[in-house]
Amino acid sequence: MSVRMEGKKTLVVGGGQPASLHVGIGRAISETFAREGAEVCVVDRVLERAGETAQEITAAGGRAHAIAADVGDPESCARLVNEAHALMGRIDAMVNNVATEEGDNDPLTLEVDGWQRVMDVNLRAMWLTCRAVLPIMQEQRSGTIVNTSSVGSKTTGGSMFAYGISKAGVDAMTQKLAVVFAPWGIRCNSVLPAWVATQHSMDGLMQAGFASSEEEIFEMGRRANPLGRMGTAWDVANAVLFLSSDESCHTTGVNFPVDGGTTSVIGGYQRPKNAPQPH
Ligand SMILES: NC(=O)c1ccc[n+]([C@@H]2O[C@H](COP(=O)([O-])OP(=O)(O)OC[C@H]3O[C@@H](n4cnc5c(N)ncnc54)[C@H](O)[C@@H]3O)[C@@H](O)[C@H]2O)c1
Repeated sequence: MSVRMEGKKTLVVGGGQPASLHVGIGRAISETFAREGAEVCVVDRVLERAGETAQEITAAGGRAHAIAADVGDPESCARLVNEAHALMGRIDAMVNNVATEEGDNDPLTLEVDGWQRVMDVNLRAMWLTCRAVLPIMQEQRSGTIVNTSSVGSKTTGGSMFAYGISKAGVDAMTQKLAVVFAPWGIRCNSVLPAWVATQHSMDGLMQAGFASSEEEIFEMGRRANPLGRMGTAWDVANAVLFLSSDESCHTTGVNFPVDGGTTSVIGGYQRPKNAPQPH
């Protein structure tokens, strides 16, 4: 059995997706950490959702706790970190995974309230959980933070204007924190997924009228990037595992794409004529 996170106390904010056909990224990260020997505090807006992930972990023989917190509320961001610290005694790795696109739109249609909601949940909340955890990690003289960004931080498409800008802010904040807190042995990186087959994204793409069936979404995914398939939550979780484990001990300030090659392409991706068919 591999134990790449043995003895680590971890906090996953936005890890409480209910079990569904397509697992969410935060749940996959929580389960991956636990499988590799970590104790995990799973945070979600809805306690039952966090509880489902925590139960799955404990049923498999791991250690997990569930905490309810709405990260749109500034005070909850500090409280969730303090609760996790009280439960586990230290925090070795924190993952900020919550995001919303509710109220987002194109630049001319977007309302001020929609802009504010997206910025508060996607960007301000990550700053506030970092602000709460960093003194704890300074005291420990060690710690890792991984923030879930998106290829939308670097690329443009669709009507998610505020979302992309909030994620660009996440990448910038990640690099700034990495530099400022490196002397205390604290590392901070972000991951940039693209087209991940989670329940949230599958439902969102169909509701927005991009596709009328899941098969159609997978087909679009096969053509969207050089590796020829949509990502899975486990692909992202494995990158987060590396960035949170001691294996990446000399890596900080990185905005790490998990995107099948999407951000390496200029213009629309053209599959070479002699390339084999995607799986
Ligand atoms: N799925 C994709 O294709 C994709 C692509 C790029 C980036 N991402 C990023 O990955 C992350 C997870 O995406 P996902 O597809 O698994 O979505 P998801 O909605 O399943 O995950 C978000 C989690 O955060 C929780 N949450 C939402 N609002 C909250 C709040 N105010 N307070 C506390 N918890 C809250 C949700 O309950 C959920 O558990 C997000 O940051 C998203 O921007 C996803």
